[in-house]
Amino acid sequence: MTDENRIDVAAVLAELTLDEKAALLDGSDFWHTQGVERLGVPAIMMTDGPHGLRKQANEADHLGLNNSVPATCFPPAAGVASSWDPALMARIGAALGDECRASDVAVLLGPGVNMKRSPLCGRNFEYFSEDPLLAGVLASSLVSGIQSRGVGTSLKHFAANNQETDRMTVSAEVDERTLREIYLPAFERVVTEAQPWTVMCSYNRINGVYASENSWLLTDVLRRGWGYTGLVVSDWGAVNERDRGVAAGLDLEMPSSGGLGTHRVLGAVAAGELPEDAVDTAARNVLNLVAKAQGRTPLEAFDVDAHHALAHQAALESAVLLKNEGGLLPLAPAGGPIAVIGEFARTPRYQGAGSSQVNPTRVDAALDALEAGLIGRREVVFAPGFTIESEDAEPALVAEAVAAASAADVVVVFLGLPPSYESEGYDREHMELPAQQVELLRQVAAANPNVVVVLSNGSAVTVSDWEAAAPAILEGWLLGQAGGAATADLLLGAASPSGKLAETIPVRFEDNPAVGNFPGEHGVVRYGEGLLIGYRWYDAHALPVSYPFGHGLSYTSFAYSDLAVRVVEDGASPRVAVSLTVTNTGAAAGAEVVQVYVTDAAASVYRPEQELRGFARVELEPGASERVEVELGARAFAFWSTAAHGWVVEGGAFGIRVGASSRDIRLSADIELAGDGALAPLTVDSTAAEFLAHPRGGDWLRGVLEGNPMGAMLFDEQHGRMMQAIPLVRLARFPGSPISEQQLAEAAAQLSAVSA
Ligand code: BGC
Repeated sequence: MTDENRIDVAAVLAELTLDEKAALLDGSDFWHTQGVERLGVPAIMMTDGPHGLRKQANEADHLGLNNSVPATCFPPAAGVASSWDPALMARIGAALGDECRASDVAVLLGPGVNMKRSPLCGRNFEYFSEDPLLAGVLASSLVSGIQSRGVGTSLKHFAANNQETDRMTVSAEVDERTLREIYLPAFERVVTEAQPWTVMCSYNRINGVYASENSWLLTDVLRRGWGYTGLVVSDWGAVNERDRGVAAGLDLEMPSSGGLGTHRVLGAVAAGELPEDAVDTAARNVLNLVAKAQGRTPLEAFDVDAHHALAHQAALESAVLLKNEGGLLPLAPAGGPIAVIGEFARTPRYQGAGSSQVNPTRVDAALDALEAGLIGRREVVFAPGFTIESEDAEPALVAEAVAAASAADVVVVFLGLPPSYESEGYDREHMELPAQQVELLRQVAAANPNVVVVLSNGSAVTVSDWEAAAPAILEGWLLGQAGGAATADLLLGAASPSGKLAETIPVRFEDNPAVGNFPGEHGVVRYGEGLLIGYRWYDAHALPVSYPFGHGLSYTSFAYSDLAVRVVEDGASPRVAVSLTVTNTGAAAGAEVVQVYVTDAAASVYRPEQELRGFARVELEPGASERVEVELGARAFAFWSTAAHGWVVEGGAFGIRVGASSRDIRLSADIELAGDGALAPLTVDSTAAEFLAHPRGGDWLRGVLEGNPMGAMLFDEQHGRMMQAIPLVRLARFPGSPISEQQLAEAAAQLSAVSA
């Protein structure tokens, strides 16, 4: 459609009555906005997402209960996050955009960039990572890819929606710095880099206030802070008080409230409680969205085969080879029989349940692909071993599996979580595989030690109890509709695994950071671990983990060399160029994800031991080398200052660590940055030590105390430290103090006003 065919937003807005504007702020049904026929404003469709299109043909619901049109089921975020491949995300995005165009969908409801705070969150399969940088970079590319096709996205669930228990009411109690450094940056990156057409506010409350009526979140942070100009839509049913929502910056309520919301908004305007301006602003945002959607060119049909091939490529990049003792993998193309055990080989688990559940165009099973790949060369014997949703061991199935294992050269055991273990709407009860699957593994391994385990799970499972029985483990997460064939390719060495963990696999559930603070009680969940999510926690507590964040093996090996770290720009907005050479030192082609972590050992605030600040994925033929470059910007070094309510780049020494995982650091270097020179403001409550540390505060204090007995005590070698810990206002009140409270207040104000 050309620009002339789009609605003229300003003209339409000028023509609308207040009632019509208020009506625009409510959906017309489950999936559509309202149209205004007399002014040629069409209703547009938005629907789930995120890893495939879920457009319901008939009965509508937002829980994934009713059927939807066939669409490509790409690997959900939990899988594809392990690719660490923004270029792949952009390609998937473009394909998703085309599927939307072919189905007349204007906005795809995703991606979700909430952090994986607890491994028990029922919806972790829809989220990318425990690290905000990784989640933000991948989601940003996905959004750009989808929107490059003239189709909108909905960045969700904004914000601090990190559990399913009481998701519609729970208050996430999160301190300011933790919000800014952990729970908001992925949203911020996508908003500022990719401008998603819509942002979906979450169901929950944040520090007591519903996201749907949180003006700090929706207006101060999102619009004023990050410059967002798109539309804010409610999660389906997230509205609490509609008029308060409009005032706070929630433009559109979905699904339709059947006019209740409109009534409420009009009532509030009439009562003088809601300015008409706020209704105009929200209506303008809805109309702008409609105008954007009118730019979409329809597509007759999408290329089902090409999209399946892309889903296959995505699955190849997403699986993570956790271990491979004795080079058990890849499986040799010829030789004795292979026992394939586990129902998941025949009945793949490739996506999670709930609103994101896609009706796939086809589904590849690993068993079929292994049989096809080995036909005429190796015999494949299959035994299901267990029934997926059964909790009890089935002796006949176990006996059949053990017999198959005994007669085989090598055994591939497909284990995983039954669909009922993880879903939108509720959290998991534990982190383990079903007990009967573990028992099956033990019995099979006793019959034949050459065991490869392939896992299918949307959230992390512990492996420490049973991994001794499996010399090789391929963690598949959920790999989408082509995952079965991709798994066979990886097992047979047609491609080398290249996925890296986007979340830590702890040794024990009890080690995880949210224990004791998840899922909260009486409607409140306290984020007591603060900044220490994921690897930040395991590092801070020097805890051993089964597999660290960023880990993933390959069929080849990589050497890291010649690290060069250059400060390109210093000062308030530093830029640091990190480069190194990566060489494929093995015999197979493969891809490596180089990770750059920053450390800040000497800071005036607590800082996590190391934080991921950049990464690059590089594909290399055997023997080939490539120079890899990663640029770090100001945010890589900054912390959120709760004193200044802003980002601060504190000058001093920083460490740059380059590794193949968070616990496999290969190269490191130190740099010195000048920083932004910002100083924590001095107040009357600042301690003498804080005055002394201030570039001019020290001179001032020494000056006023000179020759005074209090000064002698303050600088006394033995007692000085104790005195220096006292807020100056208290010292000022001590008998014989040469400083008055007023003098102190004036000095603090003056010293804080002038920059360093
Ligand atoms: C989910 C959203 C989804 C919406 C529409 C809600 O229950 O939280 O992620 O987009 O339903 O189906």
